Amino acid sequence: MRILVTGGAGFIGSNFVHNVVRERPEVRVTVLDALTYAGSRSSLSTVNNSISFVEGDIVDADLVNGLVSEADAVVHFAAESHNDNSLADPSPFLQTNIIGTYTLLQAVREHDVRYHHVSTDEVYGDLALNDPSKFTEFTPYNPSSPYSATKAASDMLVRAWVRSYGVRATLSNCSNNYGPYQHIEKFIPRQITNILTGARPKLYGAGKNVRDWIHVEDHNAAVWRILESGEIGRTYLIGADGELDNLFVVRMILELMDKDPDDFDHVTDRAGHDLRYAIDSSMLRNELGWQPRYDDFRAGLQATIDWYRDNPTWWENDKSAVESRYQTQGA
Ligand code: NAD
Ligand code: TYD
Repeated sequence: MRILVTGGAGFIGSNFVHNVVRERPEVRVTVLDALTYAGSRSSLSTVNNSISFVEGDIVDADLVNGLVSEADAVVHFAAESHNDNSLADPSPFLQTNIIGTYTLLQAVREHDVRYHHVSTDEVYGDLALNDPSKFTEFTPYNPSSPYSATKAASDMLVRAWVRSYGVRATLSNCSNNYGPYQHIEKFIPRQITNILTGARPKLYGAGKNVRDWIHVEDHNAAVWRILESGEIGRTYLIGADGELDNLFVVRMILELMDKDPDDFDHVTDRAGHDLRYAIDSSMLRNELGWQPRYDDFRAGLQATIDWYRDNPTWWENDKSAVESRYQTQGA
């Protein structure tokens, strides 16, 4: 089997590639990645000899067409992925997330190649803090930010290409991931690397917003399960019942790094900040037999802290640029 992994130099994509190389040596992996600020060749350095790497843009139709024609399946991770950046400048989000997905869909349509579309639970908008319900595959789309609106648009394109052109696609919408190789602009690695560089963690608003955390390995195991056994045209929600508020997570990071749990700053809240995400993943569990394996968040967080502490060369060159961008936003 030959798979084309878009965005394989990013956080989730690189973990996916590591996993495939480790667990499925018979699979030939080609990564297509534009190496934006969020992508790094060094995230793939340990698997370099086992994969093919193509630096390029998913909106480049000729390039995409050629690569898709040589693949049996495409797993599409590439995206502009950060809400705060989308608020500051939505334009690359429209290009990559919408036009990029369109470009891939046209290519898989032409070559009749199996396609899996990686998306987010943020397409559903948010839930109230005191609402006991969770997102399901039937929750109406109601995205809040430019990021989530472009992901929602890309999901809709996939559904339309399945129905109108018979494209063999599946979709998954996952909750917030954590683990190694996550860009330090994101919540958990930003706080860890703040502490490692002698700065204080930064909490948006009161920190009451809830995210449903899942370890990246559990997300990727689900993606593989869907690629192998998912029903064409279906959407699967991926989540591990990991709801925690941001204040709790910041305090846990501080405690695990031997700091005072109150040693953080409250900073300007994000515009339109989604209150709560929560996933009901029973369909994936019941129909495809997937179960999360990383069910101890504290242990997973400690391992993630250890990874950033042990791999400063992976992130430290980006730190000052990321923090100066946040400073201009008052965050
Ligand atoms: P990331 O920002 O860490 O990585 C994105 C990768 O895509 C980078 O390597 C980047 O270079 C590449 N890329 C960006 N634009 C490109 C383009 N035009 N052409 C080719 N490559 C391009 O993102 P991530 O956190 O790994 O997210 C991967 C996917 O998973 C995204 O589709 C995201 O919406 C989805 N998702 C993420 C989370 C999360 O918690 N991070 C949760 C659910 C779903
Ligand atoms: P983030 O990692 O950006 O993911 P998402 O916006 O996709 O949920 O943020 C996770 C949560 O943490 C979100 O509620 C915003 C909050 N947050 C902070 O409190 N401080 C920070 O420095 C960052 C980056 C995020």
